[in-house]
Amino acid sequence: MSESDEDTPTLSADTLAALQMFYSEQSLQHQKAQVAYELGNVTNINIQEDWQLSQFWYTENTATRLAQEALAVARPDGRIACLSSPTAYKTIKSLCPEGCLVKCLEYDTRFSIYGDDFQFFDYKDPLNLPLEWKHSFDVVIVDPPFLSEECLCRMAVTAKFLTKDKIILCTGMVMEAMAEKLLGAKLCTFIPRHTNQLQNEFRCYTNYDAIHLNDT
Ligand SMILES: C[S@@+](CC[C@H](N)C(=O)[O-])C[C@H]1O[C@@H](n2cnc3c(N)ncnc32)[C@H](O)[C@@H]1O
Repeated sequence: MSESDEDTPTLSADTLAALQMFYSEQSLQHQKAQVAYELGNVTNINIQEDWQLSQFWYTENTATRLAQEALAVARPDGRIACLSSPTAYKTIKSLCPEGCLVKCLEYDTRFSIYGDDFQFFDYKDPLNLPLEWKHSFDVVIVDPPFLSEECLCRMAVTAKFLTKDKIILCTGMVMEAMAEKLLGAKLCTFIPRHTNQLQNEFRCYTNYDAIHLNDT
């Protein structure tokens, strides 16, 4: 064995087998999801949370309330953008009428499984989006990955670029003043919940009077 061979790190047969199993399982999940999408059945697509990407999925009830609200304000042939809120996308897609267009703007490319509905998006480059999308969505749902002023500022730039006027923001209670300042969005009475309990208090904010996110 040459000196360079000795320097090359190697994996044991067991580790290699475990890795292979992991990748084939991932590939199988991907193929299943692709079939589900092609059959128009997005409800069968389940992508696991990746906490490195700050992913915390809504409960079914929360996703449904957000979907009801978005569908109430968008026309039946309306356009809805889900910005860093893939669970909302999935639920809206499963409830919306045929003529309605729903886009999933996400940093996590696993969501490219949603074909033409997927748009890669990084909040650090907030306007790197198709120009023709400017002010073209009836409503934008936005759920920033981080509870920071910098992140909300950049996501607000994107949301304002995309929307005709209406924005639904889901983020921490601590961002209330920033939500008002940046988006003119006010606290709703509905409290969004996540499948895994979060440390921070979460809330919904809208820059208009939301029907399904406020008690009457
Ligand atoms: C707090 S989660 C919101 C998910 C939402 N609760 C749901 O169930 O759909 C934040 C989202 O931001 C996405 N994200 C992570 N890094 C991002 C980045 N650099 N730019 C844009 N989105 C990002 C994550 O993939 C995740 O979907």
